[in-house]
Amino acid sequence: MTKLKNDTLLRALLRQPADYTPVWLMRQAGRYLPEYNQTRARAGSFLDLCKNPDFATEVTMQPLARFPLDAAILFSDILTIPDAMGLGLYFADGEGPKFERPLREEWEIRALTVPDPWVHLRYVMDAVSQIRRTLDNSVPLIGFSGSPFTLACYMVEGCGGTDFRQIKTMLYQRPDLLHHILDINAQAVTSYLNAQIESGAQVAMIFDTWGGALSHAAYQEFSLRYIGQILAGLKREQGGERIPSIVFTKGGGLWLDSIANSGCDAVGLDWTVNIGEARRHVGDKVALQGNLDPAVLFSTPEVITAEVEKILSSYGKGNGHVFNLGHGISQFTPPENARTLVDAVHAISRKQRQSDGGR
Ligand code: CP3
Repeated sequence: MTKLKNDTLLRALLRQPADYTPVWLMRQAGRYLPEYNQTRARAGSFLDLCKNPDFATEVTMQPLARFPLDAAILFSDILTIPDAMGLGLYFADGEGPKFERPLREEWEIRALTVPDPWVHLRYVMDAVSQIRRTLDNSVPLIGFSGSPFTLACYMVEGCGGTDFRQIKTMLYQRPDLLHHILDINAQAVTSYLNAQIESGAQVAMIFDTWGGALSHAAYQEFSLRYIGQILAGLKREQGGERIPSIVFTKGGGLWLDSIANSGCDAVGLDWTVNIGEARRHVGDKVALQGNLDPAVLFSTPEVITAEVEKILSSYGKGNGHVFNLGHGISQFTPPENARTLVDAVHAISRKQRQSDGGR
């Protein structure tokens, strides 16, 4: 296996020394980039982009061609799994994801089966191998999936942006049914992520976008427990290389201890968290990823640089930090502000480490 030219991301995730803090951006390939919108128009739709490995490779590479990012992330979506389960994913213009056949009846839930990633999600595995070939060992490729609970939110509600009424009704009235969905989802995510790793993904990230909507006790029982089940079943090595894992629960700031104990290598933080405090709390166990408010990118280069500086100095000296946004980049972000961010992280963290007397 050829060595990566830039392995700072992997080093930071494993809390090993590096010359600077690596950075990538959640949703770094997307609508804020005009070249993305052009490719999407050529492909026909967002789902056509995801399902065609040539297009998926093209858009994965677009942000890397513009900015000196330290990682690529597979261009896909967390909702490929419920789509492969037969729920009929579609995107209504400007309304986000929807399902033609959300889970409403007990018999529909009992009929759910775990998709075979090599068959029903083959297009994702083909995209992963094609992206790896195109990257040519420049930077690592992050593979990802949704958490069982976050996937269940979309599967039961049928769309995003809801008040979680249906899934929470199920959680309190029929916890057995929700546990059944979550168990199937956890099996599906485990085999999906393992197939991505076998296809060439070098990091596995779990997005728990809606875990923060739960109560403390419900989070442990209905979200984190299944994330832990996945982590226990993940391949930790491929081709002699360690495959680090990242867990990001949006709104999970109060539960960092238990997330850090879930078996992951790194915890993603949203922007509500003080990263320095988080480090003092759990930083001897895991690496931390985050956590600039994406809205900072609507400001000026001076403000962006100052906000980056705040996060880097709040994290403090030493290893184990991957810089990122606290959630996905907005489609209204001026691309040049993303460049300012990436350059500021590199320049400031390099200087910090030099003044630390080395690494
Ligand atoms: O980071 C990357 O560049 C990789 C691509 C990526 C997408 N979705 C592409 C996408 C990743 C990692 C995701 C994950 C995802 N998808 C999550 C978890 C992360 C998060 O943001 O919390 C969730 C909840 C979804 C579900 C989903 N897909 C939503 C809510 C939407 C609508 C978002 C919006 O901004 O309108 C999507 C569509 C989607 N996924 C887009 C992209 C680039 C926009 C689609 C378009 O081109 O119209």
